[in-house]
Amino acid sequence: MKLLLLICFCCILLQSNAYKILVCFSVPVKSLNILGEGVARHLVNAGHEVTYITAFPIKEKVKNLHMIDVSSNQNIFEGDDILNIKYVLENRAVEADMLYMQTRVYEIAAATFQHENVQSLLKKDQHFDVVVADYIETELYAAFAALYNCPMVWLYSMGAHWEPLRLIEGPAHPAYSMDYLTAHVPPFSFLQRVDQLWTQIKWSFLKEFFTMPKEEAFYKQFFGPLLSERGRPLPEYRELIYNASMVLANEHHAMGNVPATPQNFRFIGGCHIMTPIKPLPQDLQTLMDNAKHGVIYFSMGSTWKSKDAPHQLKMELLAMFAELKQTVIWKHEEPLENVPKNVHIVHWAPQTSILAHPNLLFFITHGGLFSSTEALHFGVPIIGVPIYFDQFININKAIKKGYALTAELSVHWADNLRKPIQMMLTDPSYKAKAKELSNLYHDRAIPAHHELVFSVEHAVRTGGAVHLRSPALHVPLYQKLYLDLVALILLGLFVALGFYRKSRRSGKKKRD
Ligand SMILES: *[C@@H]1O[C@H](CO)[C@@H](O)[C@H](O)[C@H]1NC(C)=O
Repeated sequence: MKLLLLICFCCILLQSNAYKILVCFSVPVKSLNILGEGVARHLVNAGHEVTYITAFPIKEKVKNLHMIDVSSNQNIFEGDDILNIKYVLENRAVEADMLYMQTRVYEIAAATFQHENVQSLLKKDQHFDVVVADYIETELYAAFAALYNCPMVWLYSMGAHWEPLRLIEGPAHPAYSMDYLTAHVPPFSFLQRVDQLWTQIKWSFLKEFFTMPKEEAFYKQFFGPLLSERGRPLPEYRELIYNASMVLANEHHAMGNVPATPQNFRFIGGCHIMTPIKPLPQDLQTLMDNAKHGVIYFSMGSTWKSKDAPHQLKMELLAMFAELKQTVIWKHEEPLENVPKNVHIVHWAPQTSILAHPNLLFFITHGGLFSSTEALHFGVPIIGVPIYFDQFININKAIKKGYALTAELSVHWADNLRKPIQMMLTDPSYKAKAKELSNLYHDRAIPAHHELVFSVEHAVRTGGAVHLRSPALHVPLYQKLYLDLVALILLGLFVALGFYRKSRRSGKKKRD
């Protein structure tokens, strides 16, 4: 009987598909960590054991989820004024400086590996079946896959941009593919097409000659000893970073303009939205239920806090909202004085629950990662106030799709909002378009989080999903463009021309 039990137990052990997964979201941007938390939770819910390196640790205890706290990474951004509404207002021309981005994100990766909590993880003789890391500007986290000798899965918080595509296939064609650096939406004008090409060249140049040498040196210095302790040679850095099994992108085809992607590029947009949606707190539920003229929801996300806006501007916004019949829910992180009757201030907003309410008319948002996806999920039109990073491309796409308007963030912000608000209130086409796209978004074979879990498990089960890799990855650019053939033809023509000249000259001599 005991033997039988033991055999049964062994069978269960052998059959269980629980994997040990390392998830890494170390960039101290709140929204990225919302995605990270979603990923970690879905993997835990699927029965796996997850070790989660995060800049924003989850407060509650979750079974089978081991948190590695790197919240001190938040200090790296301290003093970077760009993350403050007041600064943005005073210095409108803030551009995503490529070298600044690449360098900052490299520094964050280096700080993460050197963090004492990560150090003690690395010192343990531990095994992982797969590494899932946030991909933003640096490939350094692929070192985890070298260390644990396991498949690498990148999670990209944006769409099918050329930066992550270059890791598994080669950069997407600049004539029709988008990125957050330029924020142009196809079809491109001539100048936009040139800008897109120039951006790819410039970014790649900076990466190749400024950032990658630093990353490679760090990798060798830091991971060399760790691997030799384990008795294994250190893989070549440039081989390692082009060896990912999957890229999972936080996008959905409903937004359109997605270029062709290889089979190991998957779309998991919306996977962070945990269903069923939690009910609203009682006060908000009553407020929204009773809003006869509908509700406008206003939130600038978790990074750019409304409270940092100048006092004068906030008073103007309140006065502008007071002219409306609608109820306004404003996520403002501090108490505000002299708030009109129709404006309701919340310090923290249960965003998905608000967006799900049928009385919601539209959403005034910075157009960040999640606000855009959530608006699509719930079919809510938006007025975009983009500030930085991917917000411009998100809003530009939404405008092109017909369910968004924009209002520039400036000292005239309240005035800038007046016209788009009136248009949203009077023209039903924005709402209709948002609903139409939302139906597209929900019409899929499997939910986004199943795609996520399946893809990660598939990478483990198949020893790195090598069968899904694109042959294009190992074809150099000159071969893709057939420059060798062009060179051969030119050479042939040149030689033929030479012969022709020579024979003409000798013919002339003979006649003489
Ligand atoms: C590349 O990935 C495969 C599958 O995960 C793995 O077997 C191989 O060792 C990796 N090679 C390098 C250089 O990392």
